[in-house]
Amino acid sequence: MTSGGKIRVGILFGGQSAEHEVSILSARNVLAALDPARFEAVLIGIDKSGRWLTQDARKLLASGQNPRLARIEGGKPVRLPSPLSESTASPTTGRIDVIFPVLHGTFGEDGTIQGLLEVAGIPYVGAGVLGSAIGMDKDVMKRLLRDAGIPVAEFRAVRRDRFDAEPRAVLEELAALGFPLFTKPANAGSSVGIRKVTSAAGLADAVRHAFEFDAKILAESAVVGREIELAVLGGSPATVSAAGEIIVEHPDGFYSYDAKYLDEHGARLELPARITADEQARAQALALRAFEVLECEGMARVDLFLKADGRLLVNEINTIPGFTAISMYPKLWALSGLAPTELVTRLIELALRRGKQRATIRRSIAP
Ligand SMILES: Nc1ncnc2c1ncn2[C@@H]1O[C@H](COP(=O)(O)OP(=O)(O)O)[C@@H](O)[C@H]1O
Ligand SMILES: [Mg+2]
Repeated sequence: MTSGGKIRVGILFGGQSAEHEVSILSARNVLAALDPARFEAVLIGIDKSGRWLTQDARKLLASGQNPRLARIEGGKPVRLPSPLSESTASPTTGRIDVIFPVLHGTFGEDGTIQGLLEVAGIPYVGAGVLGSAIGMDKDVMKRLLRDAGIPVAEFRAVRRDRFDAEPRAVLEELAALGFPLFTKPANAGSSVGIRKVTSAAGLADAVRHAFEFDAKILAESAVVGREIELAVLGGSPATVSAAGEIIVEHPDGFYSYDAKYLDEHGARLELPARITADEQARAQALALRAFEVLECEGMARVDLFLKADGRLLVNEINTIPGFTAISMYPKLWALSGLAPTELVTRLIELALRRGKQRATIRRSIAP
């Protein structure tokens, strides 16, 4: 940042994913938590057609917590500095010192935006290209966890081409996991494309449904257990929050899209989770391990299953967790004594520190 002035933080939100509206609500809360003494917000909304537009802070704050009011409209086009173009600064935004991507899912949480920001040379909050891409691909994520000796549900991944070529063999292979099982797209989120399959009769249909959302899908043995979530904050060393629990009360029988977003009684959060001190300590150690193994940086929410016999499995990691008023990530930190403003400040500081480190890396062997 330049001397004297405030750090200009670009908050990037909206985006071309199913979680567009959720992202706007998250961005609103990141903005509300920004310390005005140190930071100045530059709002950049990405509309559903992919246009980057400057947005107005007052309007975003006024959208409240209502997804129906969360909308990206108006604003001037934003151009980032890029070696591919002549421009080095965006006349519509002015200088941007760091970007806080508050984008969930495709083109936001998956490493693509992170790659763009790397090329543009702008520091950004959260996982880098690799950690983001790993966190988005449930197949690669689970292979890495398994390889590190971290327990995960038994799973098989299948590509579309193979399923098209030999559907019967694939279905038999997946059925060998036993029922019930879960089918899911490898790259998705918000429980989109996920089904709980109770018998062989429903398997082909569930597999085809998952393939609508990705060219690679997973089948997983159903884990009978409680859903426990923890928040991790990067740094050296990374730190972990207390545990929370998601209690699903929905006829779907799992934390489905409807239970998450459509039915307000579909699920409730238990903060803190009512688990023993020993369970919590093991959950925290596992969350930190997963964060490290999966190349995460900055922030992540780690989702676990706790079985009746006390054993823990990792379900998944989210590298840009929700920041809405009802989201677990900020709530878990608040519960652990870190208020939203302090949390957002630390995330930005981590991003700036990484940006400085990258700048010192040698890119040439010439003396
Ligand atoms: N192997 C499994 N065993 C039991 N429940 C599962 C399993 N996989 C998914 N679920 C249920 O489906 C929900 C969404 O699955 P998840 O893999 O977390 O996908 P997403 O990235 O869409 O959240 C979980 O929160 C859980 O309720
Ligand atoms: Mg999940």
